[in-house]
Amino acid sequence: ARSLGDKKEKTLAMIKPDAVDKMGMILDMISHKGLLVTKAKMVLLSRAEAAQFYIEHQSKPFFNGLLDYVTSGPVVAMEIMGGNAIGVWRELIGPTNPSDARSQNSQSLRAKFGTDNTRNAVHGSDSKESATRETEFFFPSAGPSRANTAQFTNCT
Ligand code: PPS
Repeated sequence: ARSLGDKKEKTLAMIKPDAVDKMGMILDMISHKGLLVTKAKMVLLSRAEAAQFYIEHQSKPFFNGLLDYVTSGPVVAMEIMGGNAIGVWRELIGPTNPSDARSQNSQSLRAKFGTDNTRNAVHGSDSKESATRETEFFFPSAGPSRANTAQFTNCT
């Protein structure tokens, strides 16, 4: 059973470069799950920024390819909120590998829009700790960028 505390759980969602043109359909699927987009921005990450975001994978063999890909065009970062948001979003995106995604549930985002382990359309935080770190990465709570960051102050 979900605790009341899950009601306003927040997670960080990122639409990767190959799926930015699917943003409309992705937003529709987010609202159909009862989740709310509370912050959003489109950004072209530098290589250093991408390396920081994916720091937990820095020693993996795919790290350089992951950085090449995720800096190849703009991404859309979103804070999304709702009951069990971390789990609901991870379920909606599906497994890392889009072929696995297609054999499990053809309705997931990676099943629909992903190509391979690297070009897999979307990202979602895998824990509360990552959600906090990754949200702070894109939407810092202190500093000058705050001045032009709009948000739903009535629900955050
Ligand atoms: S792992 O290795 O168990 O930590 O894998 P995972 O948690 O699924 O996250 C891996 C992220 O790196 C991206 N990526 C790849 N994963 C596996 N193999 C290859 N070749 C690869 N290339 C890139 C993968 O899409 C995951 O990205 P995010 O954005 O975190 O989902």
